[in-house]
Amino acid sequence: MQITFYGQSTFVIKLGEQVLMFDPFITGNPLVNDKDLSKFNPSHLLLSHGHQDHILDAAAIAKSSGATIIANYEVATHFGNAGHQHHPLNHGGKYNFDFGTVKCVNAIHTSSFPDGSYAGAAAGFVVWNSEQCFYFAGDTALTMDMKLIPLTCPKLDFAILPIGDNFTMGYEDAAIAAEFIECDRIIGCHYDTFGYIEIDKEKAIKTFEAKGKELILMDIGQSIIL
Ligand code: NI
Ligand code: MN
Repeated sequence: MQITFYGQSTFVIKLGEQVLMFDPFITGNPLVNDKDLSKFNPSHLLLSHGHQDHILDAAAIAKSSGATIIANYEVATHFGNAGHQHHPLNHGGKYNFDFGTVKCVNAIHTSSFPDGSYAGAAAGFVVWNSEQCFYFAGDTALTMDMKLIPLTCPKLDFAILPIGDNFTMGYEDAAIAAEFIECDRIIGCHYDTFGYIEIDKEKAIKTFEAKGKELILMDIGQSIIL
């Protein structure tokens, strides 16, 4: 799978012919120089919750690409009512899409739309096909529910976890999360974008190393193949 990082929690992951984009927050991110949205042409947009730093550019990208929005019932319906293709999921449920399976899993985090209206409960996603499986945690605290992922999903090849603290778990808790989900390769996200979530990246990497885990911190615009 090719994984490209666009800052905060925004990732584009290619699975065969399909392109999944997660939590698009480009135009509002002070760390992103290239704010041109026209380069994005996802087949699916997966949104973890309703906060601005996860959905800001979803409507514009869905409109230009025709991507199907996959999210919890409230977030998916919100975009469906605005005329976008959408597929609602809810916690504990999975569905077989043409690119693979998506399971909607628990996150511990608040959620509302930028205008304050109800956006349901925040979620994470486990995504797999016949070859690979990964977990996109969204915004979440460390939670014992993460232990359910290895019990209910294929073995994870990698996971994308928030590490910035303040609004989500910090890297110390994220390293414990890596143990709970039984995954040795973690891509960090949701750090450094704003003052509240600036971290010591060296310390973060060493914290994971001490548990025998790899923490990958990608540059904005960088792609890797896992
Ligand atoms: Ni949030
Ligand atoms: Mn957030």
